[in-house]
Amino acid sequence: MRSSDVLRGDGASNSGSDVLVVGGGIIGLVTAWRAAQRGLRTAVVDPDPGGGAARVAAGMLAAVTELHYGEETLLGLNLASAERYPAFVAELAEATGPGHDVGHRACGTLAVALDADDRAHLRELHALQTRCGLTSEWLSGRECRRLEPMLAPGVRGGLRVDGDHQVDPRRLAAALLLACERAGVVFHRALAERLTVVRDRARGAVLTGGDEVTADQVVLAAGSLSGRLAGVPADVLPPVRPVKGQVLRLRVPPAYAPFLSRTVRAVVRGSHVYLVPRENGELVVGATSEELGWDTTVTAGGVYELLRDAHELVPGLTELPLTETRAGLRPASPDNAPLLGPTALPGLHLATGHYRNGVLLTPVTGDVMAEVLTTGALPDEARPFTPRRFSSARLEQPA
Ligand code: GLY
Repeated sequence: MRSSDVLRGDGASNSGSDVLVVGGGIIGLVTAWRAAQRGLRTAVVDPDPGGGAARVAAGMLAAVTELHYGEETLLGLNLASAERYPAFVAELAEATGPGHDVGHRACGTLAVALDADDRAHLRELHALQTRCGLTSEWLSGRECRRLEPMLAPGVRGGLRVDGDHQVDPRRLAAALLLACERAGVVFHRALAERLTVVRDRARGAVLTGGDEVTADQVVLAAGSLSGRLAGVPADVLPPVRPVKGQVLRLRVPPAYAPFLSRTVRAVVRGSHVYLVPRENGELVVGATSEELGWDTTVTAGGVYELLRDAHELVPGLTELPLTETRAGLRPASPDNAPLLGPTALPGLHLATGHYRNGVLLTPVTGDVMAEVLTTGALPDEARPFTPRRFSSARLEQPA
């Protein structure tokens, strides 16, 4: 008997799969890979698997430098995932074989201040990190420039965080796609238009063109689109919204290398800017944060602001070839944390709302979702992220 039959408790199965994952971005793919590894017959529906926000993301694994007030619970999950990254990447390399390196680079991060306001902001962040037991070191401007000689002479100080690394999200998505294929995951290259619900239980999805795929359990992992899949009951629909991020890619010619040796970031006039140098010479500059609905236009203003702020940080950057401009949509939830696990609709699970941390949270999301799909229970580490925290039933409970 398959584990999904056990979960249903009615002994029945259908002609589809054990698990249908709606959405083939990195979160959907890692869920499918981990489910298939546990022996579940798994399918993914996505017109372009391996795409989504990972095609735009810079891939910072920045649990410490992206810490925000009020997000200490999320910090625990972020750290758990960061800790798993080396073993996760090694397992993925074993599953995919040579030639599919995901660009995991233990390079560390330097967050710097350009003026007195930035410096005060960074000092606050340092105090919060210290209170949370995190490791970061305050450096003078001169010490920052000694580490990264391309930094602007005006840098006033910075935070050295040796534990915040990077991975290349595009290569990660490609490797996960291959790992899924090798693990026997079936891909339906179409859009899921509607969730099907039979006798108050999620049973699959109707695809563009009218085909229907069925499964014992459905995982909605479609990034910001998760919030608008037809057929999902209103009280279960995840409250995720798109937050646009514009990102640039530059190339560091070999003669300029090493241009930067680690991720460098700053808050310039209230906007975050980060520069992520890859070993292959790509330099990613991100990112705007815009609440503009489904718009993914790359704008002159967005590119201008990113280049202006990045130039203040590292003036020599304007010499580099600009190779790509792109915009993507972060799936944001009301508390900036993901929604993981079962919903109030039997058979329907969520793995969405990862907002700024989708790449970082990929390993832990895969583990959590595999556990949920095989046992029906959310592991302790994921309990604070149950989708039920947003359901009306929960909100109506007395305090
Ligand atoms: N975590 C980086 C970003 O969301 O822009």
